[in-house]
Amino acid sequence: MALPVVDTEYLKEIDKARRDLRALIAFKNCAPIMLRLAWHDAGTYDVNTKTGGPNGSIRNEEEFSHGSNNGLKIALDLCEGVKAKRPKITYADLYQLAGVVAVEVTGGPTIDFVPGRKDSNVCPKEGRLPDATKGVPHLREIFYRMGLSDKDIVALSGGHTLGRAHPERSGFDGPWTQEPLKFDNSYFVELLTEETEGLLKLPTDKALLEDPEFRRYVELYAKDEDAFFRDYAASHKKLSELGFTPRSSSTKPIAKDSTILAQSAVGVAVAAAVVILSYFYEAHKRMK
Ligand code: HEM
Repeated sequence: MALPVVDTEYLKEIDKARRDLRALIAFKNCAPIMLRLAWHDAGTYDVNTKTGGPNGSIRNEEEFSHGSNNGLKIALDLCEGVKAKRPKITYADLYQLAGVVAVEVTGGPTIDFVPGRKDSNVCPKEGRLPDATKGVPHLREIFYRMGLSDKDIVALSGGHTLGRAHPERSGFDGPWTQEPLKFDNSYFVELLTEETEGLLKLPTDKALLEDPEFRRYVELYAKDEDAFFRDYAASHKKLSELGFTPRSSSTKPIAKDSTILAQSAVGVAVAAAVVILSYFYEAHKRMK
């Protein structure tokens, strides 16, 4: 399969779409639902069959009408405004860019974004996203199927620092944190606090406290926001690139290759110098 490559013009469009999304999200205060959209398009990935994933298929009614996607039509429609202005950009890239921008504009970490995803109309069957009423084994089963790890599960769950549940969409109600439009580590702080009046804890959120491996990360992220931001940015990038082998414009990989070349050249020169010097040293010793 050919690697996806985008040209300079496409990169310029991505840059403009990024600005459009910043303005839209600020104006509509819709960062949480944009992040949920990006996650629900990507989170259907199956590492074994290489199906699902961030491919824009969620724009089809067959998929957005899945119970777990309740309410996401709002986010899909908001993205249509940007798509109309920037038709070159694939839906797959647009939704993932919206997720990245949502995290950034609410104060979260910068997430590396590489464009080039292809759109698909093949919708996965219902049931690939996690069920909030379930526990530890279910979480592992769903995220391992995506090819993600325990650390990814906990870091990404920190996405619930944004937004709230709506009774008419999921049957759950309320925000996870005091400031649901601010991306910080408060999801983990609240999770570890016993009496959090008015704040939401889903069964899958509580599961993160029950498993020692999960809990280790919850405790780390609650006390060290830098560690959370670092791991979140890495896990979010992984999620946004499931099933996608990114290679951006021709400039980036070449720059990387030339850096590697320069490094190897220095390595070879140093090695040669060591050999020559030891030769002279030995010769000098023998002359004595
Ligand atoms: C770990 C398994 C997860 C479960 C079971 C789960 C479940 C849910 C549920 C039930 C809601 C409420 C939907 C509503 O009523 O509007 C929700 C909202 C949300 N989820 Fe998750 N989620 C999970 C993981 C994630 C991940 C990995 C992210 C992002 C990285 C994420 C981001 C969000 C956001 C931002 C909202 C708020 C949406 C809004 O305010 O409209 N979730 N999630």
